[in-house]
Amino acid sequence: MFLTRLVYASKKSPKFCSSDIDDILETARKHNGSLGITGLLCFNRQYFLQALEGPRSAINSTYYRITQDKRHSDMLILSYEEIRERNYGSWNMGYVPESSLTAPQTLKYSIGSEFDPFSMSSKSACMLLNDLSKTVPII
Ligand SMILES: Cc1cc2nc3c(=O)[nH]c(=O)nc-3n(C[C@H](O)[C@H](O)[C@H](O)COP(=O)(O)O)c2cc1C
Repeated sequence: MFLTRLVYASKKSPKFCSSDIDDILETARKHNGSLGITGLLCFNRQYFLQALEGPRSAINSTYYRITQDKRHSDMLILSYEEIRERNYGSWNMGYVPESSLTAPQTLKYSIGSEFDPFSMSSKSACMLLNDLSKTVPII
């Protein structure tokens, strides 16, 4: 079973309320742990940026499940590739909150200082995730 990484962006929907993030992380960690999935989730109260890595079929079925979730919308796949190694192997779903998505971090990979993965190239979004995993405390 090939190791695969999928990175996508999405937008918070009107159905989302602030306490949902805890529920999302709890459910994600429970499912991901049993499926061999690791990853990182960034959220700034407007946009999500998530990397999922693990067995290819588990990534595909998990992504499909996430697409059915009414708490976000406009899902956009930024990257889908078979990989040789994990970048986020320490976390079943690590969380990067808004406080860690600082202007200098964002400005390094985007045209502006506001975190908006829809205005970033796929490559830059993936590089930002990788950078964050090494430089900010992951919750
Ligand atoms: C932005 C976002 C990220 C999510 N990430 C994951 C994830 O990594 N793994 C997962 O199983 N569910 C994730 N979910 C939750 C799923 O969409 C879905 O609600 C959940 O898997 C359903 O689990 P249940 O059938 O046990 O209730 C995410 C939801 C959102 C909105």
